[in-house]
Amino acid sequence: MAQSAASGLEGVVVADTALSEVDGERGRLVIAGHDVERLSGHLSFEALCRELWAGVPGATSTLELRAALGRERAWAFGRIADLGRALHAADGMDALRGAVGQLAAEGTAWDLGVRLTAAFAVFTAAWSRLREGLEPLQPDPGAGHAEDLVRMLRGKATTHRAAALESYLVTVSDHGMNASTFTARVIASTGSDAVSAVVGALGALKGPLHGGAPGPVLDMLDAIGKPDGAVDWLERELLAGRRIMGMGHRIYRTRDPRAAVLERAVERLEQEGHRTPRLVLARAVEHAAEDILRRRHPDRALRVNVEFYTAVLLDAAGLPREAFSPLFACGRVAGWLAHVDEQRRTGRLIRPDSRYVGPHLD
Ligand code: COA
Repeated sequence: MAQSAASGLEGVVVADTALSEVDGERGRLVIAGHDVERLSGHLSFEALCRELWAGVPGATSTLELRAALGRERAWAFGRIADLGRALHAADGMDALRGAVGQLAAEGTAWDLGVRLTAAFAVFTAAWSRLREGLEPLQPDPGAGHAEDLVRMLRGKATTHRAAALESYLVTVSDHGMNASTFTARVIASTGSDAVSAVVGALGALKGPLHGGAPGPVLDMLDAIGKPDGAVDWLERELLAGRRIMGMGHRIYRTRDPRAAVLERAVERLEQEGHRTPRLVLARAVEHAAEDILRRRHPDRALRVNVEFYTAVLLDAAGLPREAFSPLFACGRVAGWLAHVDEQRRTGRLIRPDSRYVGPHLD
């Protein structure tokens, strides 16, 4: 009989990876050899993709990758008419799953990775526009990926907003063996293709315990309204048996280091003249939630996670809350593809065991 079940697989090491290191005790995250604290503002999304995908056969320079992403955004835009009702789904993650799932898994691993990354951005923006009753906007193949994504969503991209989204995309690009990355690796380990791997990963990311929290975080801030309303609202929520979105993490026993990076990006937007009225409220809610959760769970550090300041940053950058989870996917697809490549190189099927607890014959 198999040993007792590790229901959440915590502490179980399922892969060796050179892509990112999550140190939950010290609250440190390294992506592609860069401390996340120093990544944002220093590396473009394209440059980070180039580093994460360095092992993928056919890798090109960052400059060529930027141009290829532009071409592929234009290509993906041309496919929108063939996607049927996929981009009319009410939920952005359903739309992305339905649209990306229609792409053919053809071409080299590098070319397909570039195509998928471009398609995530184009389909996210097109879905968001259609949802608002607007026509999707053509990509600008000469623009940087983050800047073009802001423009396709909003019609124009100020330098500051583009920089805010670029900070976001690089900050969330990879994060150890999170649930969606694990999903992508399991699919890749069967010898399946990259389209299937990222579609499966999208399904895992969609859940509120993973990538579905930032929209609800903004709803929470709206419902709380004023800093002095935080404690009562949070207490009521916990009394009703609900979790506080944007708080807690499976690995971090400290404040999520990505929260600090995104919080600083919000401050930069503020200094650059963008109104971010939610920052003061968000900080008050964070402190109130930490205090309350510390009292309820004195043995478990439940601190703010990436999703909390994702909500504040993307909102401050003028991006619609319904698109927050798809935008998370637009950044994380870079990591998924890198893990698909890394997993393939191991050549090993991921196939764990289960413990049978049903009735036995005889
Ligand atoms: N609000 C209230 N209680 C929480 C909580 C939260 N955000 N996060 C954890 N807890 C509670 C759990 O219910 C559990 O209580 P119990 O022992 O009485 O059952 C205890 O704290 C320990 O939980 P833990 O084992 O640390 O949670 P986990 O590792 O299974 O889950 C998350 C991690 C992220 C799924 C969890 O913290 C959560 O649901 N957060 C809210 C959703 C969110 O922000 N998701 C984005 C993640 S990046």
